[in-house]
Amino acid sequence: MTLCEYKPGLEGIPATQSSISFVDGKQGILEYRGINIEALAKQSTFLETSYLLIWGSLPTRQELADFEYEIRYHRRLKYRIRDMMKCFPESGHPMDALQACAAALGLFYSRRALDDPAYIRAAVVRLLAKIPTMVAAFQLMRKGNDPVQPRDDLDYSANFLYMLNEREPDPLAAQIFDICLTLHAEHTINASTFSAMVTASTLTDPYAVIASAVGTLAGPLHGGANEEVIEMLEEIGSVENVESYLDRCLENKSKIMGFGHRVYKVKDPRATILQDLAEQLFDKFGGDYYYDIAVALEKAVADRLGHKGIYPNVDFYSGLVYRKMGIPTDLFTPVFAIARVSGWLAHWKEQLGENRIFRPTQIYTGSHDAPYIDIEKRHSAADAEILAGMIH
Ligand code: SDX
Repeated sequence: MTLCEYKPGLEGIPATQSSISFVDGKQGILEYRGINIEALAKQSTFLETSYLLIWGSLPTRQELADFEYEIRYHRRLKYRIRDMMKCFPESGHPMDALQACAAALGLFYSRRALDDPAYIRAAVVRLLAKIPTMVAAFQLMRKGNDPVQPRDDLDYSANFLYMLNEREPDPLAAQIFDICLTLHAEHTINASTFSAMVTASTLTDPYAVIASAVGTLAGPLHGGANEEVIEMLEEIGSVENVESYLDRCLENKSKIMGFGHRVYKVKDPRATILQDLAEQLFDKFGGDYYYDIAVALEKAVADRLGHKGIYPNVDFYSGLVYRKMGIPTDLFTPVFAIARVSGWLAHWKEQLGENRIFRPTQIYTGSHDAPYIDIEKRHSAADAEILAGMIH
């Protein structure tokens, strides 16, 4: 490859050197700091995994206890943030609310002491602590209710589900939710992480870094796909309709949500774990009508697009898990963001360690030496097209 070769979407182009996570897309392997995702899902917790990602090694018992304590202590939101949220339209998307709230934190903690470890730690703790409270608060406020205060006797995931549903969650649901956060915490240089890194490279504050990443995650080609998967399953409506739905997608060249990945050419290992978690929930709380449609769709896509490496990604089964926990569909991507904050922060910290501002180049395709045309003599683009047609 020559240096000037253009790769749409920067496919295959290394944007950084990183020791945070690793993906083998042919074998379906994901590791955080060298530890396999299956082991972390089984043995770790989201906060322990976040510590691992951000500080590079598993915490000792004392380090973990200190980290958990600090996060518990910082869960509450300033009343001015809550007041700001009251002005948001109920019809607004929760990802937009979250992006605005994350950015607003910068108003309160504006010091940019990026070379001070205490500042870095405080920013990490604040963001991990407050983002779930923001998501839950917006959910209650848009229903016209007061937000529920965090409960210090509940751990990270149980407390989020409590703030969201106004009741203590079932222990299995809380445990499974925590595993979901671990699975979504980090994934190399995906679009939102890249966005976080570019923002970080300007040495702006960490709240701007997270706000820019939240905005990037929201799109349907990225984290927003988890919401669209449920809408797609609803549209398909029954197992019998799967093949005809797929026919239409292939005919119209439209994307099947929750399938395909830039790196994985086999089933995303997170999707395998999420499917298993969904089944555990169905065993305890009863099945979900859409699960059978999802399984039939996975099989049909594998039969027809498997040769292209199109298999379920992380967003395919996560929504079925969240639905069983009573989480509304438009909160699926904010839940993804709650988890991914830890990966974004890990990359923010790594970026600061050896920073150089991101400033790639481009291949210019425009003209040169174009004349400046007087405004009276200009034609609109539509006129210009008509004129060009008449000349031809
Ligand atoms: C996430 O990068 C990460 O790590 C992201 C993520 C993370 O943890 O951060 O894993 C989370 O974002 C998961 C992806 C969620 N998005 C979706 O589920 C949306 C549907 N999927 C796609 O649009 C697509 O697969 C992407 C966006 C995920 C990847 O896009 P690429 O790598 O640019 O691939 P492409 O669109 O250029 O497709 C390559 C080929 C094309 O066929 P050809 O033209 O070569 O014949 O694969 C086909 C595509 O048509 N294809 C699909 C498809 N995805 C790819 N065909 C049908 N349905 C799909 N979903």
